[in-house]
Amino acid sequence: MLKLVDFEKASFWYALASIFFNPTFWNVVARQEYHSKLLTKLAGGNPYRGCYGLALTIFSLGIFRDYLYSQALSEQPVHPLLQTDLVKLLAAGLFVCGNVLVLTSMYTLGVTGTYLGDYFGILMSQRVTGFPFNVSNNPMYHGSTMIFLASALWYGVPAGILLTAVVYITYNVALKFEEPFTAMIYSKRK
Ligand SMILES: *[C@@H]1O[C@H](CO)[C@@H](O)[C@H](O)[C@H]1NC(C)=O
Repeated sequence: MLKLVDFEKASFWYALASIFFNPTFWNVVARQEYHSKLLTKLAGGNPYRGCYGLALTIFSLGIFRDYLYSQALSEQPVHPLLQTDLVKLLAAGLFVCGNVLVLTSMYTLGVTGTYLGDYFGILMSQRVTGFPFNVSNNPMYHGSTMIFLASALWYGVPAGILLTAVVYITYNVALKFEEPFTAMIYSKRK
């Protein structure tokens, strides 16, 4: 019988751990920032500098997670049913759409809008409603998930689809924490 996922590879578990860790990390850090302003204090009282520091950290953790993910994929079995031109085409489409969502969202929100600036007291002047926010309420998360799935399909690796499902679930859990909190922050704006 064909093995779909090789759970004995340590790289699979490293990728899984980092997929869980990243959103947990930024939610915990951002919340403590909101309550204690620790990063702002560490940045000499400048919330922008504090937020840029966090942005750089989250960005680096993301690069590291992508690296662990690609390592994991490279050691997992490939499934013949996924090795077709149609699947490759789908992967390419997902890769392009995912990147468009992530990049246009970053461009629209800027660094502080993308990386939890509201927890530092750096609020957006108004709600953004144009593209990509008119096609997805969370283009960063949706785009990122699409890029994970794109790699899994491109290389024809079922374990990648499983890890992408974990990414999807983790982001959805993160949103359950983030959305009400962000709404609370904005509701307190004077
Ligand atoms: C979203 O906005 C863009 C540009 O503002 C527009 O071209 C596009 O048609 C809109 N899409 C939807 C689904 O409303």
